[in-house]
Amino acid sequence: MAKQEAIGERVTTMAENGFSSLKLFTGNSNPDLAYKIAEYIGVEMGRMTCTKFSDGEIRVQVDESARGTDVFIIQSTCDPANDNIMELLIMLDAFRRASAKSITVVMPYYGYARQDKKIKPREPVTARLVADLISQTGASRVVACDLHADQIQGFFDIPVDHLFLGPTIAAYLRDEGYADMDAVVVSPDVGGVARARAMAERLGKPLAIIAKRRPEPGKVEIVEIIGNVEGKVCIMIDDIIDTGGSMIQGAEALLVRGAKDVIATCTHPVFSSNCTQRLQESPISRIVCTDTIPIPKQKEVSKLTVLSAAPLLGEAIMRIHQNVSVSSLFDDWS
Ligand code: R5P
Repeated sequence: MAKQEAIGERVTTMAENGFSSLKLFTGNSNPDLAYKIAEYIGVEMGRMTCTKFSDGEIRVQVDESARGTDVFIIQSTCDPANDNIMELLIMLDAFRRASAKSITVVMPYYGYARQDKKIKPREPVTARLVADLISQTGASRVVACDLHADQIQGFFDIPVDHLFLGPTIAAYLRDEGYADMDAVVVSPDVGGVARARAMAERLGKPLAIIAKRRPEPGKVEIVEIIGNVEGKVCIMIDDIIDTGGSMIQGAEALLVRGAKDVIATCTHPVFSSNCTQRLQESPISRIVCTDTIPIPKQKEVSKLTVLSAAPLLGEAIMRIHQNVSVSSLFDDWS
């Protein structure tokens, strides 16, 4: 469980403050997380129906008044990404037409984020397209966790609160004794150095970097490891584990260079296809992630620990509703 100290001091709860103008709703992408957020805040989940018509079209019905309220929609745009995005857009349309005062879209996981720039000619920037759809359908604000690329915030012309689950993971690692070990924090690619450095500083450990190449989507080639890993416990940290290729090949390369043990941590467990089985069979000794994306029972493996993003998201929602700083939650996380 994430510790309260990982996310700073708790602001007063809705119940303590007697607020009634905050309403929380969830789509079908991650209801378990949404209910945990509601529990943290101390509110009931808003009543709405998100089902499908017989032809597969999405049907949304808001089952209580939202007029004049601050609506927060919890929806991760994880697999099935296209259905979850469409469901979100339809929910937004419903609340805009229902005269909500504001609509905050809380996206624990922002799908399509890895398509954030043109690398080759004639490629789309799909992360921007998704941002445009959300803004233009009526969102007042977006809350997202560990966006794959910082520039995605700038794809929106509405406020974006960018939250980091690194402190939650760091608090867990401390509890598990990793801060007392001869350990090094490892970024599995050059793009993730800032995230790994923040974790290294939080745990008081040195940093190492894996330089990797992607000859094609889903394929990984390790080019170089920068930093000393010999005899050390390596704590790899990434935003996403998808096929597991970056982590597994990274771990193998670290072990070849004399690492004593390797654990893999990430915020978003995309875990496509047989990823968790591959991780389980790999030399990685532990996998730590959060619940921004639900993990189906059949993908659970014994090496896996799932921390909840609910306290952080609940805290951010209460702060937004009460106009209290959200960024101050990360004053000591750079
Ligand atoms: C990409 O740059 C991301 O930060 C992750 O490293 C990537 O999505 C992981 O993918 P996979 O698990 O398939 O190697």
